[in-house]
Amino acid sequence: MREEYTISQIAEMFNITTNKIRFYEKKGLLVPIRQNDNKYRKFNEEDIVRLQSILLYRSIGLSIDVIKNILKNNEKENYLTHFNNQWKLVNDEIHRLNVIRKSLEVVIDKIYEETEDYKIKDDLLEIIKESNKLNNIKNEWKDKWNFNGWAKSYDDDVKKDNGELKIYKNYELILQSVYELVEKLDRKNSKILEIGVGTGNLASKFLNNNYEIIGIDQSREMLSVAKEKYPKLKVRLGEFLKIPYDNKSFDIIISTYAFHHLNENEKCIAIQEMIRVLKDNGAVIIGDLMFESKDSEEKILKDLSQEQIDEIKDEYYSYINLLRDEFSKYNKKLEYTRIDKFNYIIKIQ
Ligand SMILES: C[S@@+](CC[C@H](N)C(=O)[O-])C[C@H]1O[C@@H](n2cnc3c(N)ncnc32)[C@H](O)[C@@H]1O
Repeated sequence: MREEYTISQIAEMFNITTNKIRFYEKKGLLVPIRQNDNKYRKFNEEDIVRLQSILLYRSIGLSIDVIKNILKNNEKENYLTHFNNQWKLVNDEIHRLNVIRKSLEVVIDKIYEETEDYKIKDDLLEIIKESNKLNNIKNEWKDKWNFNGWAKSYDDDVKKDNGELKIYKNYELILQSVYELVEKLDRKNSKILEIGVGTGNLASKFLNNNYEIIGIDQSREMLSVAKEKYPKLKVRLGEFLKIPYDNKSFDIIISTYAFHHLNENEKCIAIQEMIRVLKDNGAVIIGDLMFESKDSEEKILKDLSQEQIDEIKDEYYSYINLLRDEFSKYNKKLEYTRIDKFNYIIKIQ
């Protein structure tokens, strides 16, 4: 039999008043069952999940109407989708507020440092403008490549490697090399984060060798394929630009074939994010499509067909010299290995 709860039990569970629950009921957000004989409200498991969502959405300031809409759209979804939606919403909010907090810190420092006649207006506007810009970039990244649609056939497609540039011809070698580079770091009990984990091919190497690894990806379908293949793999929704973890959480960050979905600006923010969640003395190892510099790109493009150039321009190959400069801002050194014409592995420490 399904478990049922009274309004007082539910109120106690969430540490709220029964009036609050009645209010959400009046607003049409909750519709408890009423028993015919005594008209008492009874709540079931779904009502509990619904109420948990309402309280969470209220805590981040959403209006009753907005919540009503979210819940209506979520009705057909399973619990995982439902909680993944909340995970994303909460993480987005944490990132938004962190950017604002950082800018407030700068403003406050400026006020403390300045003496008489200090005109805060211009500085303040500049700082607010910068923090809005950063939040916009973080929130505007979109999956233009439809990875959700690609997830089920991804592994087969990698094997077929039908593209113009044959970028997957050394796929297995690249994944294995990233694994071996991590092994060589010889860090016992390392906590590893893989970004853009996809269908889990790289992560599985670490899983099989008892590493503690979490894979994040912006594509729910990729995560669901990864989870089907490797039930023990820990996966979460997450993006390069808004890594859903606290500062200094990981010893090593790895990624393959994912970084080139960020443009130059976005790459700088992603680097800042990786450094943020990396512990002191942590390492980043990325296998991806790159050129050594803009000059070397020009030389390579000269020998390519228009179709091949179009394939490159559909994505954002990195320039290793620019990545080196960017990582050096955080006192990190970059070394690289060339795998083939387009694929490189960079190690940052
Ligand atoms: C070409 S697949 C590579 C998958 C896997 N790393 C591999 O080597 O087979 C690119 C993956 O990166 C993910 N991805 C792309 N941009 C991302 C971003 N900004 N944040 C998180 N994941 C991203 C995609 O969803 C996709 O799963």
